[in-house]
Amino acid sequence: MKKLDDFVTGGTGFIGRWLVLELTQKGRSVGVLARNKMTTGVELLNWIDRHGGDSKRIYLIEGDMRKPELGMSTQDQEKLKGIFDVYNLASMTGWGLRYDDAYQVNVEAPLELIKMIAERAKKVRRFIHITGYKAGKGRHTPDSLGFEKQRDWGKYRWAWYMFNKGIYHGTKIKAHYAVQRACQDYKIPLTIINPAALIGDSKNGEISLSQSDGLLSLIDQLYTGKLMAIPGRKDDWLPLVPVDYLAAFIANISAQKESLGQAYFVIDERTPPLRNVIQEIAHSLELKPPRFHLPIWLMKLCLRAGLSKFLGISHEGLGYITGIRYNVDDEKALAEHFGITRDDIMVVLRKTVKYYTDNLLKSKRTLCTE
Ligand SMILES: NC(=O)c1ccc[n+]([C@@H]2O[C@H](COP(=O)([O-])OP(=O)(O)OC[C@H]3O[C@@H](n4cnc5c(N)ncnc54)[C@H](OP(=O)(O)O)[C@@H]3O)[C@@H](O)[C@H]2O)c1
Repeated sequence: MKKLDDFVTGGTGFIGRWLVLELTQKGRSVGVLARNKMTTGVELLNWIDRHGGDSKRIYLIEGDMRKPELGMSTQDQEKLKGIFDVYNLASMTGWGLRYDDAYQVNVEAPLELIKMIAERAKKVRRFIHITGYKAGKGRHTPDSLGFEKQRDWGKYRWAWYMFNKGIYHGTKIKAHYAVQRACQDYKIPLTIINPAALIGDSKNGEISLSQSDGLLSLIDQLYTGKLMAIPGRKDDWLPLVPVDYLAAFIANISAQKESLGQAYFVIDERTPPLRNVIQEIAHSLELKPPRFHLPIWLMKLCLRAGLSKFLGISHEGLGYITGIRYNVDDEKALAEHFGITRDDIMVVLRKTVKYYTDNLLKSKRTLCTE
């Protein structure tokens, strides 16, 4: 492959592979950073071909976000020269992460990548950074969230925030601001994507085991009878979005001039309150759902007081359940413009539960007992 159009970090992950699939289907040649070309890299190529993409358009680049210059060889760094779009999805995800590693991958590495792009990729059209819906831009959310104020927090306030909310969430928020600042300093055109919690693809509900601390944890808790109450209030929700819809949105964004300097929530606002989502999952599993609600603060307290070890559930996930409704008008208008359609979110949820129980649960159990 002579020239690369795009560079993707996290391309071997759940969202990343659907994005790489979209990009190859658009005829782009894509450089994908892979920690291990021979295992996850080759697995990605096979997956892309099985899903109707073109693996010949992918160039695997060996690297590691924990290393200087992302562990990329000088020869591979040269390949960045003609790049147009850069998609940063690599991340340590999940609960109970080690601070040093997570900070390196989630905060330091994107800054290193921006610097490398500024020095080498003179034709860069867009740096697209993927974070989460809890790191949304202030203009879309009530002021009480105070995101703009967090920007100038000192070391100790950040440490307290991360202790409280968890390392994953804390590092993602920190990166949200650090990336904005770095792109400003290096004059790199930036777009931020703030997705909801991911569910499987619209067609088959295909989901990956890397989502074990996300939606799959909710399914597991119901399955094992550990979810005895519904977290939060009656109208609280966990916003959801199907992975293929998100990937299609991301793959189209850089061609849109107006998206420059913008942040987009990619959320299906039709997601019902969490209690209905739990009912739906329980129904699919032919189980009885819990009926009573428990306040989030009380659940967090119990989990932090020791119940977490006993139940195998982390308090960190509870922070994603919210009463806030996000403004997704911009996203919906753009998706319509791109011609991306949205299936009924509850139908996709049902397919996801089925995909998980039919295809993944057994292998997960085997992994746990090995
Ligand atoms: N999933 C969600 O519900 C959700 C919701 C909102 C936002 N997001 C954000 O979306 C992005 C992608 O999430 P995901 O669910 O697709 O994550 P994922 O499935 O866990 O994939 C993470 C990706 O990051 C790569 N990675 C991790 N550490 C690395 C390192 N040291 N060097 C190089 N690559 C490394 C992984 O590579 P390996 O294959 O080598 O492990 C993998 O490709 C993340 O930024 C996440 O915060 C996710």
